[in-house]
Amino acid sequence: MKNHKPRILTGDTPTGRLHLGHWVGSVENRVALQDQYDCYFIIANIQAFTTRMDRPLEVRENVLEVALDYLSVGIDPKKSTIFIQSEIPAIAELTVFISMLVPYARVMRNPTVKDEIRDKGLGDNYPFGFLLYPISNAADILIFRPEIVPVGEDQAPHLELTREIARKFNQLYCGVDPHAEDKDHITKGGVFPISEIRLGRTKRLIGTGAPAEDGSLLKMSKSLNNAIFLSDDPDTISKKIMNMYTDPNRLKATDKGRVENNPLWIFHETFNPDTAWVADAEERYRQGAIGDVECKKKLIEVLVNIVEPFRQRRMMYEKDPAAVLNILREGTERANVVAEETLALAKKAMKQNYF
Ligand code: TRP
Repeated sequence: MKNHKPRILTGDTPTGRLHLGHWVGSVENRVALQDQYDCYFIIANIQAFTTRMDRPLEVRENVLEVALDYLSVGIDPKKSTIFIQSEIPAIAELTVFISMLVPYARVMRNPTVKDEIRDKGLGDNYPFGFLLYPISNAADILIFRPEIVPVGEDQAPHLELTREIARKFNQLYCGVDPHAEDKDHITKGGVFPISEIRLGRTKRLIGTGAPAEDGSLLKMSKSLNNAIFLSDDPDTISKKIMNMYTDPNRLKATDKGRVENNPLWIFHETFNPDTAWVADAEERYRQGAIGDVECKKKLIEVLVNIVEPFRQRRMMYEKDPAAVLNILREGTERANVVAEETLALAKKAMKQNYF
């Protein structure tokens, strides 16, 4: 049964626990798609080494944190496959072959790579392997020949590169016509489908911290210290929301509340299922007829309702690290079967199947 379902591949770099930005950007989609698709979730530990090669123990710990996060939100190891990137040798092999299909200047044009170099202040102090990671990211995807890749908007440039590599590979080695439509690549003999991106319902969630100097709201991110984690307890969530910046003008008696660009209302609109309450409260807020504290309390209730079941499930798995490791071992075994199959097809297409 399972093998007839179309495949999904997505995952995360293990740099810390997952937060609400991950949830609305991609993780929520993954949980929802588990029944219809054969899902593969990669924990990209080699990718973590591009900026953390000096902290191997931290990477190791974060692999387990991400696995716990996946299990905690309801990714079911009986339906879906969770695995560790470095334990799939076919990914590394495919990375080397497909790196020949990507001009150097093309890698440097990737906006996600540029942003990362800027935001992490890497200057030109990044290793050669850092520049290889978009190609390795493409190999992570291609080796599973997935139909859909559910990711956040920041990953779109990587998916575009992946699609370019798939087209080029199919044209060069499988005789697919350069004018073939993306959807026809497989029926025309290509090894790799041109996978589709699936964005989450919120493209870019903001954080709970102060805005940037120019007033723009910063995205939720562990490194900006403005994240609500999927594993936060009710007390922590409450503190983060109570300390959250809302609308500084409200401090002046003359100003009514501003709803637009106000984190309080962005969060309510994103997470509060009671849309009638939100619409009514926003109106009252504009008139200065409802206070920040009341609206924040409501938001805390909403967020705790979402996160608390995750935290409870996480605690169950935390008590049994051997079981978690076993889930990863079994997932990695299943992932290797598919990956080896794809690598053999790719090598055959490249005429490098000798024995
Ligand atoms: N680049 C992703 C991130 O930074 C993680 C990742 C690695 C990934 N390989 C992938 C995501 C393949 C989707 C598909 O979080």
